[in-house]
Amino acid sequence: MPLACKALQKPKAAMAIINSASTKLRWILAPLLVLAMTTTRVHGQPSSTSGFISLDCGKRNNTPYTDSSIRGIQHQSDAGFVEGGLTHQIAAVYMAGAPYESQKTLRSFPNGSRNCYTLPSTPGKKLVRALFTYGDYDGLNRTMDGSPFLFGLHIGANFWEAVNLTNWDPSSTIWKEVLTVAPGDSVSVCLINFGTGTPFVSALELRPLQDSMYPFVNSSVSISYFRRIRFGQATDFITRYPLDPYDRFWEGWSFSYNTYPWMTLNTSSPVRRLPGDNTFQVPEGILQQASTLDTNYSFFEINVAVGPNLDAKNLQLLPIFHFAEINISNQNRRFDIYSDNDLLFPDFSPSRFQADSMHENGRFLHNPTATFLLNKTRSSRLPPLINAFEVYSLVRMDNLTTDADDVNYMKEVKKHYNLARINWNGDPCSPREYSWEGLTCDYSKRNQNPRIVAVDLSTSGLKGGLIISFMNMASLENLDLSHNNLTGAIPDYQIKSLKRFVI
Ligand SMILES: *[C@@H]1O[C@H](CO)[C@@H](O)[C@H](O)[C@H]1NC(C)=O
Ligand SMILES: *[C@@H]1O[C@H](CO)[C@@H](O)[C@H](O)[C@H]1NC(C)=O
Ligand SMILES: *[C@@H]1O[C@H](CO)[C@@H](O)[C@H](O)[C@H]1NC(C)=O
Ligand SMILES: *[C@@H]1O[C@H](CO)[C@@H](O)[C@H](O)[C@H]1NC(C)=O
Ligand SMILES: *[C@@H]1O[C@H](CO)[C@@H](O)[C@H](O)[C@H]1NC(C)=O
Ligand SMILES: *[C@@H]1O[C@H](CO)[C@@H](O)[C@H](O)[C@H]1NC(C)=O
Ligand SMILES: *[C@@H]1O[C@H](CO)[C@@H](O)[C@H](O)[C@H]1NC(C)=O
Ligand SMILES: *[C@@H]1O[C@H](CO)[C@@H](O)[C@H](O)[C@H]1NC(C)=O
Ligand SMILES: *[C@@H]1O[C@H](CO)[C@@H](O)[C@H](O)[C@H]1NC(C)=O
Ligand SMILES: *[C@@H]1O[C@H](CO)[C@@H](O)[C@H](O)[C@H]1NC(C)=O
Repeated sequence: MPLACKALQKPKAAMAIINSASTKLRWILAPLLVLAMTTTRVHGQPSSTSGFISLDCGKRNNTPYTDSSIRGIQHQSDAGFVEGGLTHQIAAVYMAGAPYESQKTLRSFPNGSRNCYTLPSTPGKKLVRALFTYGDYDGLNRTMDGSPFLFGLHIGANFWEAVNLTNWDPSSTIWKEVLTVAPGDSVSVCLINFGTGTPFVSALELRPLQDSMYPFVNSSVSISYFRRIRFGQATDFITRYPLDPYDRFWEGWSFSYNTYPWMTLNTSSPVRRLPGDNTFQVPEGILQQASTLDTNYSFFEINVAVGPNLDAKNLQLLPIFHFAEINISNQNRRFDIYSDNDLLFPDFSPSRFQADSMHENGRFLHNPTATFLLNKTRSSRLPPLINAFEVYSLVRMDNLTTDADDVNYMKEVKKHYNLARINWNGDPCSPREYSWEGLTCDYSKRNQNPRIVAVDLSTSGLKGGLIISFMNMASLENLDLSHNNLTGAIPDYQIKSLKRFVI
């Protein structure tokens, strides 16, 4: 993605803009393309992939496989994690350039306004990532035909982000990532049809995080990946597993900013975290590298906005800066850190060979230009340095999912009667405008999960006996099963709440 950046000279001389805007789009595309051709550098033993889920969407062959470009991670087909949709391959001309094996196929969802995947999980913090490679799978040149190509993503019952592929080269791969708390034993990811292009997805990945990580993420606040950058001289466009045991994607800064006055620093000496600091767990291999400027320059700006797919104007951003002084001979480096014009951290001095992660404890900032400035203080000898940088946008998790028991009973009903209703997908009650046809939900109790209070399955072609799941739904007041072909006895169960039952 385009990283606009400027470095200014010490006296108020002219601004040096260190990249050419015309390379923007290619750079967006470049990371993953090159990644496929390089091998990931390995520091030590790959750590456990326990709990990793990697779905290769639209893959027909069900045999799990390992992608040679992502060591040690098993991929599997998405069959069984989603209902409906159509499987496709990208166009033959884009096959060879696919950055990962998983990007060669995809699943599209021409029908239904919401289609959801259910990823098995354990409760707790997770990274969820979706990757999209259009690859002209339908031969319609949809990203380049001049009309908008835009669809939405939900995480659980909440809006996560829009996927905007308008004007993108069909070979490009984009990804979205969210750090979220899994409420129970699954996480759902839904594709939302806005009427501007058929939603599709190429891969879905779930990675467990430790609960000590990203402490501002909780059940009502998730954060969506805006940028995650590693500085210094990276060898891969994207650094991920196994260098990062959590398989976060770190984009390499040096691929766009490797010219004067940028300087890189590296060290093979250990760069430690303070004992007990497990908040971000930036890999040591990333902290052992940094970018700075020639000593006669005094500040740089990191602009992370720009680009068709990222709009910072209406977002609230949460920046996290990672620093470690790795210049062994340095005596003096101090700088001020700004978000736009807001001074966040005055007179900061990085610790020697020790990680300092600077953030404002979960405060989201309005920063419409998405610009961050690191400016040498008057007394400092050296210009600023930076090792890694993360920026997230806020995803509110205001909408609660339906009561878990009600969900399970409705799933039993759906399965028992083999109900293939197109909108019976995802959470039954949330968000409201996607609630299942025929259900009435009670949302009135704030801070409590919605409950199902009425089920109307009249004239639905139900056959066979009456399933007792209905009798277990503790909030059900109204059940209409008229005009079906149900046979057999009505189970002798009493639902206290039930006020009306038509069969
Ligand atoms: C979409 O809906 C049409 C018409 O109802 C149906 O024929 C088709 O099989 C559906 N396709 C998918 C992928 O569900
Ligand atoms: C796709 O559309 C763009 C813009 O209309 C056009 O320049 C390009 O040649 C088209 N590509 C193909 C393969 O049809
Ligand atoms: C929650 O649901 C409401 C009503 O369906 C919807 O308007 C709103 O956008 C949802 N909120 C989020 C954060 O998705
Ligand atoms: C989540 O974090 C936000 C911001 O720190 C806080 O206002 C909110 O109360 C927290 N929610 C829960 C459920 O802990
Ligand atoms: C570290 O930097 C030195 C000097 O620039 C360079 O010779 C060396 O190859 C670099 N090492 C790594 C691991 O990048
Ligand atoms: C900065 O210093 C370098 C030598 O270290 C020199 O080549 C360069 O011209 C200087 N730049 C400016 C703008 O003074
Ligand atoms: C989607 O991207 C196109 C092309 O950059 C842009 O013109 C449009 O405003 C974007 N739409 C949204 C809703 O962000
Ligand atoms: C490292 O520190 C020394 C001493 O302050 C300085 O001369 C040198 O320029 C620094 N190197 C870099 C790359 O900043
Ligand atoms: C950077 O700091 C210097 C003082 O060291 C100050 O004069 C200058 O205005 C600052 N630049 C910006 C862009 O804030
Ligand atoms: C209803 O079920 C009965 C017994 O299985 C069967 O004979 C009858 O044809 C069914 N009627 C309809 C409309 O499906």
